[in-house]
Amino acid sequence: MKIYEKLLLENKAWAEERKLDDPGFFSRLSEIQTPDFLWIGCSDSRVPANEITNTQPGEIFVHRNIANMVVHTDVNLLSVLDYAVTYLKVKHVIVCGHYGCGGVKAAMSNHSYNKILNMWLKNIKDVYRFHKTELDTHTNEERKFDRLVELNVQEQVLQLSKTSIIQKAWQNEQRPHLHGWVYGLKDGIIKPVFEMEACSEIDPLYKYDDL
Ligand code: CO
Repeated sequence: MKIYEKLLLENKAWAEERKLDDPGFFSRLSEIQTPDFLWIGCSDSRVPANEITNTQPGEIFVHRNIANMVVHTDVNLLSVLDYAVTYLKVKHVIVCGHYGCGGVKAAMSNHSYNKILNMWLKNIKDVYRFHKTELDTHTNEERKFDRLVELNVQEQVLQLSKTSIIQKAWQNEQRPHLHGWVYGLKDGIIKPVFEMEACSEIDPLYKYDDL
């Protein structure tokens, strides 16, 4: 059997099991999705949103990219955010990073990957620059790496709050609550590191006053 064929076979078994557990499962989900959460996570194969939160299909709207970044020129991310916030009306947006993130580690090095990857990793290098004073106090490289993962998540939550999408939803519907979490690959535990409740104060420089 080819390795991809195993996936198709497992899928059949999974669908059967679901139907046995809950006969209305697929007909219900095929009609509508009403997730309460938007998850912005890392593409890393070891951090699957549904598994680590023990949630089911239909519960979390998901976007993943390298190092869970919220980049304001990323049309993909912004489309997902707009759809989830404006149309699905999610109550929570979670940016979930993870310790041991390869993207963050790569950004800490001076190695050139290629044009596209360098362009993406530059956004993480910027996070390092914003917090250079604190990060450079860490003599332990591992600790510094962990801390940059946490600060990156915090920075991406702030990036969310700078979008007109979030600011408009805060103004009109007092949602969503923004969360910055970090998942531990070694123990499977998610640690909340930062949050912004709906309608939190933001730097006036980024605040729109005519939404
Ligand atoms: Co990662």
